[in-house]
Amino acid sequence: MLILAIETSCDETAAAVVRDGRFTLSSTVASQMEEHRLYGGVVPEIASRRHAEALCGVTGQALDTAGVSLAEIDAVAVTFAPGLIGALLCGVNFAKGLAFAAAKPLVPVHHIKAHIAANYLAHSELTPPFLCLTVSGGHTQIVEVPGYTEFRTIGRTRDDAAGECFDKTARALGLPYPGGVFLDKLADSGVKSTYALPSPKVEGAPYDFSFSGLKTACLNIINNAAQMGKEVNKADLAAALRARVCDLLIDKTLAAAGKLGCKTVVACGGVSANSELRRRFPEECERRGLAFFAPPPELCGDNAAMVGAEGYYEFLAGVTADAGLNALAAMPI
Ligand code: KG4
Ligand code: ZN
Repeated sequence: MLILAIETSCDETAAAVVRDGRFTLSSTVASQMEEHRLYGGVVPEIASRRHAEALCGVTGQALDTAGVSLAEIDAVAVTFAPGLIGALLCGVNFAKGLAFAAAKPLVPVHHIKAHIAANYLAHSELTPPFLCLTVSGGHTQIVEVPGYTEFRTIGRTRDDAAGECFDKTARALGLPYPGGVFLDKLADSGVKSTYALPSPKVEGAPYDFSFSGLKTACLNIINNAAQMGKEVNKADLAAALRARVCDLLIDKTLAAAGKLGCKTVVACGGVSANSELRRRFPEECERRGLAFFAPPPELCGDNAAMVGAEGYYEFLAGVTADAGLNALAAMPI
């Protein structure tokens, strides 16, 4: 079964053709990163305009690269939630038009479910059940995945997402957007013990996260140094923050896996590209006899192949939408 997938939830216009939820025939991503970098973050209005411009070309390229025509596609899948509302609406309306013009079923896909499904494209041996840490710019959650279309939130952030904590600290350090990527590189040359950062806990909720206090602690270190006319050691602070965020992500996920008796642990989302997380998480899993999977770096960030993967399983489960499909800025998994 061939799925044509469309993704426009944030600042990447993406289209892909995926076979049977597991094989990527093509995956085209037009990134707007350079333009948003001028402003230090994503400007929603610019994102919507660029999606509207790029969607036709990106989708045509995905079909051409896969060597299939629209007539040969079995269904059109599209990210409809959560994300920037204007950006989502571009993809949803485009997918609706395409599906109805070509008389194909339309499959609505939740963005975080798609991030989880990115793992199916890279790891043929991975099947539910498993426990997944989903870490992106806007979301941080521990999700139990008993089946391809079944999800149960075990823990979530009460405030900032892990990616947001990286991005905002990176911005205060003068690093370019997207800050998490540059902070990760800078941290490689830093000493993590120079700065003592808090280890925030959420009272009575051992699997929930709180990253805003960690971000504030970093901003205070930067501001206090500036007030005293001193330079903060940027690499050391980056290393301290990266290590602390990884401690929290890994410890809470493994505690949840222990409690639930999960034997397979998975990571996904933009922050799962973090080099320290990718080094430490599999080591910690191996020590406990757990299997560990994460997508390759190119499938950690936003792309449409992951939407095609989840879209396939949603379609098999009978999930389709009609012309009334709307986009939603926020939606639980
Ligand atoms: O999943 P994603 O591409 O978009 C959302 O759905 O949010 O995630 C983007 C986030 C940004 O916060 C970015 O800074 C972060 O992923 N990120 C990283 C790394 N690469 C991307 N954070 C830490 N280390 C990285 N190597
Ligand atoms: Zn994402």
